[in-house]
Amino acid sequence: MHAHSRPVQSNQASVHEQLPAVVAKHAATIFRKPVSAVNLEAFTASIAAWKAHGGAPLILDAGCGVGLSTRKLAQAFPGSFVIGVDQSAERLGRNIRWAGDLPKNFITVRADLIDYWRLMLSESIYPQQHYLLYPNPWPKKSQLGRRWHGHAIFPVIVALGGRIECRSNWKIYIDEFASSLQQLSAGAVHSEAHRSTPTDALTPFEAKYAASGHALWRCHTELPPKPGLASTLVDS
Ligand SMILES: C[S@@+](CC[C@H](N)C(=O)[O-])C[C@H]1O[C@@H](n2cnc3c(N)ncnc32)[C@H](O)[C@@H]1O
Repeated sequence: MHAHSRPVQSNQASVHEQLPAVVAKHAATIFRKPVSAVNLEAFTASIAAWKAHGGAPLILDAGCGVGLSTRKLAQAFPGSFVIGVDQSAERLGRNIRWAGDLPKNFITVRADLIDYWRLMLSESIYPQQHYLLYPNPWPKKSQLGRRWHGHAIFPVIVALGGRIECRSNWKIYIDEFASSLQQLSAGAVHSEAHRSTPTDALTPFEAKYAASGHALWRCHTELPPKPGLASTLVDS
């Protein structure tokens, strides 16, 4: 596979100086935007599918795109159930190449994560593992609020707990995600270069970036869920 994806260009040279203040503000604020009926319906159906599978340990593939990682994670963790969530019906509906039998322990669902994560917290549904793979970087300095760690939803992601892993081809994104995790938790956060090849990549974006010769980065941590935060972070 040959690809010529351009590395992320940004007018930011390091972690955004406003990040700690932004994260602290969001952690002290209740998120009041109403959950949409369509997201509630998608959430309810996907949780019913998980329960019908026996309620195995849950893996959330947040922003799963075409769902390749959802399938690969299901294959890698046969004793778990993987829910891949993405807002794009077009991506979720794409036919992806898969050799052999598809695993049965996964589902992909079209929903906005902003609602999906809040519903998980208010319904006390905690993932054992939580992947955020190659989220849109929003690299302009002025776009901090669109990155997951700069968004009001971030404290909800942390409160859900579990093993959280974020990957990106933009080191600053991972540096910021890791420092925001550290700010809101006592757990050790590990950040490192991540090696991948186009053939063993977990996601299509990872494959494209690996084929383009980009450096890849990831951070991960393991956190206890914080059910007590549901009432201070989400309107239920
Ligand atoms: C850069 S793509 C990465 C997709 C996939 N993880 C991969 O690595 O191939 C980011 C994905 O996040 C999804 N996304 C962004 N914001 C979202 C939101 N609020 N709710 C659900 N999905 C979202 C987009 O639709 C897109 O598929």
